[in-house]
Amino acid sequence: MDASQAGTSQPRERQRQMTAQRPFLRELPDGRHISAVSFGCSSLWAQVRFDKGVALRLLDVAMEGGINYFATGPSYGNGEAERRLGEWLRSQATNVLVSTSVGSAFDDSGRAFRSFLAPDMEASLTASLRRLGRERVDVLYLHGPSASDLNDEVFRYLEREKERGRVVWTGVNSIDPQVIDASVDAPIDAVMLQFNIDDRSNAQFLPRLSSSRKIVVSGPAMARAIYSLSTFVPSNRCRAWYLLRAVKSDPAFLFRGSMLARRMHHFTDEDSASVALRYSVAQPYLHTSVFGTVNCGHMRANIAAARREFDDEELRKLRSFH
Ligand SMILES: NC(=O)c1ccc[n+]([C@@H]2O[C@H](COP(=O)([O-])OP(=O)(O)OC[C@H]3O[C@@H](n4cnc5c(N)ncnc54)[C@H](OP(=O)(O)O)[C@@H]3O)[C@@H](O)[C@H]2O)c1
Repeated sequence: MDASQAGTSQPRERQRQMTAQRPFLRELPDGRHISAVSFGCSSLWAQVRFDKGVALRLLDVAMEGGINYFATGPSYGNGEAERRLGEWLRSQATNVLVSTSVGSAFDDSGRAFRSFLAPDMEASLTASLRRLGRERVDVLYLHGPSASDLNDEVFRYLEREKERGRVVWTGVNSIDPQVIDASVDAPIDAVMLQFNIDDRSNAQFLPRLSSSRKIVVSGPAMARAIYSLSTFVPSNRCRAWYLLRAVKSDPAFLFRGSMLARRMHHFTDEDSASVALRYSVAQPYLHTSVFGTVNCGHMRANIAAARREFDDEELRKLRSFH
């Protein structure tokens, strides 16, 4: 089932969402706007071995194209993602939306650890703000909590950060349906959930999150390009990195990817990456979809795809693709 087929307790709102052409800029609860696609400052982009000059250039290209939300976290590149984003933010005159996370970080020896204890989250956010060169972030996500981590003590901590002015909105970033379910009625403002053309298992939550006035963020928006074999031919270090990551997360990814590619090809002869991104952009209920790339050409192509208008037939087809 995709988001367009999922039920909602607000039929009129659902009707409006189903028929609406989605604008590139979408309104947030405080009246500011967020771009329909956003950039994930993570993955290969965050690795020290990936050229910092190109990483910063990618942010320029993203902003030139109208992307105004950059999502990162302390665990990406052991802080390197936040350092890079922070360096770029310091050189910008225009304000953009920035999120980071707490709950998974790294210690002084560079070892990753997880903790949702208030003192650990507070120290993690302090370090993130220092690396980002900011006094506050727009969204602070709990990164990969379990359902039991969504408890009063954790919510009190998040509220304190809002009162202190270090956080505009609080959120949960999860791939776990149980956690997303628990987030619907939790006292948080935003949810980043796994949803893309390859994985629609969380679609059922989209109308519910929207009904409870959450900011809804999806990723990874390109479905990690599993439909594009060339991404994984290890002809250079970037592709070798993507191949290793894909095998680690799903040894059968090539099979799944080729099945998906076949269905996409049957659906349209348009470029698969563009279809994958437009699938997310077309969905009702989503504020923005986060993608990653280390290629400026891909960044431009993705923004162009996200900005292209939909005709009614394409909208209908994309929303019912499965
Ligand atoms: N809460 C959740 O459930 C969840 C889970 C995972 C990730 N996320 C979010 O999703 C964000 C993005 O994740 P991600 O970067 O791992 O995955 P992604 O955006 O789905 O995919 C990145 C892959 O797509 C390729 N790609 C991008 N544009 C392309 C184009 N136009 N043509 C061909 N290939 C293209 C990239 O290769 P090139 O570099 O060569 O372009 C890279 O291999 C993360 O930053 C994270 O914030 C959320």
